[in-house]
Amino acid sequence: MELALYAPGLGYYAGGAAKFGAAGDFITAPEMTPLFGRTLARSAEAVLQATGGDILELGAGSGRLALDLLRELERRQALPGNYRILELSPDLQARQRALFEAEAPHLLERLDWLERLPERFAGLILANEVLDAMPVHLVHWLGGEVLERGVIVQHGEFVWQDRPLNVGPLWQAAREIEPGPDYLSEICLAAPAWINSLAQCLERGAILCLDYGFPRGEYYHPQRNTGTLRVHYRHHSLDDPFYLPGLCDLTAHVDFSAVADAAAESGLELLGYTSQANYLLNAGLLDLMAEMQPMSSDYLRAASVVQKLLQPTEMGELFKAIAFGRGCVASVPGFERGDRRGAL
Ligand SMILES: C[S@@+](CC[C@H](N)C(=O)[O-])C[C@H]1O[C@@H](n2cnc3c(N)ncnc32)[C@H](O)[C@@H]1O
Repeated sequence: MELALYAPGLGYYAGGAAKFGAAGDFITAPEMTPLFGRTLARSAEAVLQATGGDILELGAGSGRLALDLLRELERRQALPGNYRILELSPDLQARQRALFEAEAPHLLERLDWLERLPERFAGLILANEVLDAMPVHLVHWLGGEVLERGVIVQHGEFVWQDRPLNVGPLWQAAREIEPGPDYLSEICLAAPAWINSLAQCLERGAILCLDYGFPRGEYYHPQRNTGTLRVHYRHHSLDDPFYLPGLCDLTAHVDFSAVADAAAESGLELLGYTSQANYLLNAGLLDLMAEMQPMSSDYLRAASVVQKLLQPTEMGELFKAIAFGRGCVASVPGFERGDRRGAL
């Protein structure tokens, strides 16, 4: 999965495929409406005020979220000194810069592309749909045994092969789950490691992640016994990860309990966990809509997209928002109602 997504020049995120939007393979919330980034600006403003810091976005995609968020902060006279982006994909870095050159060149001086995480950071760390793009391990719990499912080449084709797993961090993580006698799912060791590294650099401020996934009890539910690994290709969702490797997006849902455990071990405070719908409503999405000209074509277009973001059967319930803090940030706007921390 790591090679298929990130191998230099060949991986899906490392190459030049369109990826986002109508011409690509999938569409993320920032690509659907500027209201998403503008709503997140409410959370960002509070953290910037409390810390006097900056924003650091991980995996900024096309740059849309950065653009909408900064425009809203500008409107609210709350721009940070710097908006830093850590983007693994050189192709996406170039697209992010081009977007700002075309739509808001005056904001470019605040942008700064990083090669690695800074040693120390104060402010808001933001990641939308980044955790689901991290490579996962496939684990097959069979009888009393734990097997790791890997990939081999046979007669020129990729096929699965299981091998016993008896030692190491993956085995330890698998033993803590024990979901059922014949059960296939994923474990993402990269996500807790990533949270640890964010925690190490966050001196004071908050981390806000939005993504699709569940707490552990739901993730490893007996009925979800074939896991959540999926392929996205030209707006189709497929379940064969060997289909056109490097040209398709590969993704797995996020185990938010594992993320929360890693954050707690790193000394971060869990400030909030709720559905995307609750988060966006709490953070003032409808207030922003109320400022629009009612029944104008922009309003009607926005209303239909907002429905998608909020509806439980679309993105409202499967997607979650989670926030962690350290230091002077005691809360983040967006988590006032619908607290689900108890489910983690
Ligand atoms: C599904 S895209 C989401 C893009 C964008 N945030 C959006 O919402 O449209 C996943 C992004 O995460 C990035 N990514 C994956 N692992 C990362 C990591 N460890 N650090 C930073 N970015 C990462 C990928 O390069 C890609 O840009």
